[in-house]
Amino acid sequence: MDDATPVLANTTDLAAFWMPFTANRQFKAAPRLLASASGMYYRTEDGREVLDGTSGLWCVNAGHGRIDIADAVHKQLMTLDYAPTFQMGHPIVFDFATALAKIAPTGLDRIFFTNSGSESVDTALKMAMAYHRARGQGQRTRIIGREKGYHGVGFGGISVGGLVNNRRTFVTLPADHIRHTHDMARNAFSRGLPTHGAERADDLEQIIALHGAETIAAMIVEPVAGSTGVLPPPVGYLERLRAICDAHGILLIFDEVITGFGRLGSNFAADHFGVTPDLMTSAKAITNGVLPMGAVFASRAVHDAIVQAGPEGAIEFFHGYTYSGHPVACAAGLATLEIYRREGLLTRVGDLAADWETAVHGLADAPHVTDIRNIGLMAGIDLAPRPGAPGARGYDVLLGMLEAGVLVRATGDTIALSPPLIVSVGEIGRIVETLRKVISNLT
Ligand SMILES: Cc1ncc(COP(=O)(O)O)c(C=O)c1O
Repeated sequence: MDDATPVLANTTDLAAFWMPFTANRQFKAAPRLLASASGMYYRTEDGREVLDGTSGLWCVNAGHGRIDIADAVHKQLMTLDYAPTFQMGHPIVFDFATALAKIAPTGLDRIFFTNSGSESVDTALKMAMAYHRARGQGQRTRIIGREKGYHGVGFGGISVGGLVNNRRTFVTLPADHIRHTHDMARNAFSRGLPTHGAERADDLEQIIALHGAETIAAMIVEPVAGSTGVLPPPVGYLERLRAICDAHGILLIFDEVITGFGRLGSNFAADHFGVTPDLMTSAKAITNGVLPMGAVFASRAVHDAIVQAGPEGAIEFFHGYTYSGHPVACAAGLATLEIYRREGLLTRVGDLAADWETAVHGLADAPHVTDIRNIGLMAGIDLAPRPGAPGARGYDVLLGMLEAGVLVRATGDTIALSPPLIVSVGEIGRIVETLRKVISNLT
């Protein structure tokens, strides 16, 4: 490229961008480009409106194009564009941590900043190991996850994650997994929490018996598994995990990258379920998706064990990112929290959840539908795979919905819905009715 060539000379040249979690060859043969967004809607390059049924990728909880966030970002850029947080500080990172601590589940008021959910997970796993080491139990390094869990793509996250495609190509850390809780035989078409399956938490006891509690640092779960198709926890399940962890000195980590910031009608799922973990990861929705950021919420016990250990003047936790607590992301985050507060968005789902549940379960009699699950403003709809072509129906739904002007997420033959928390009852109706038509036309 010579100096005169504009960088964006040809926006339709698709070759250079190696797309994440995408069938690159298939996509580039028939690209789907979203060019702008406002409120509940995207607009495609050719000018068609697309109702956002997924909050982007579960992250745009206050809807698109929020002017207050844009203004705050601009102002911060012109005030302090970047400053390090290693052995230095800047005011807004302390302000944002304090604001997050105020809305955190009780006791989880020590905040470590990252740039993504994957980084939050790996940070939390390292904190768990550092906590035990600081307490003289450095042999506690094994980490426990769950089948069908998604904890991002770092080596820690894939080690505790439970999705084979994300694991099979790579090496993993010493980890083990309890069973998932998706039990079609007993729980199909449950509304809200499934009744059966709390006993699956007892798998953790078996793993403890196998490896020895003294080797285990932490158990990590998504309170509601999101990426695998919205799996709400069985009644009593999270309480049981908490009790087993407590009995064996194992830290409990909730991965709230999806469930944080109002998705269930409470600040966090920990509040919704009344179960408090020792560490909680977050990312999506912390800046309403406008800038990359994540945060780990730590209990005082975990924080103090690490930060009060070691000699005065020594760095206590050898971990952090160049952009941990980036001032511009903090400005976006503070403006986002203010919108959530002013518009009551962290609790709005409480008012919508009944309409949502009725609407999505209305699809129970649509063809090919084998299960529907819902909680808060999330839903998962399973379709029977087309014989010999698993995933094809899910992909057809994604394309058919896009054609009809609604964005949904398809993972295999599971359709996930998670609209922005500003969605109207009418828009919920439109998402579900469009889905009915598209599913009805499937072969
Ligand atoms: C529960 C959970 N943890 C971690 C992640 C990873 O987040 P990121 O893609 O920001 O790294 C995700 C992303 O979907 C997630 O759902």
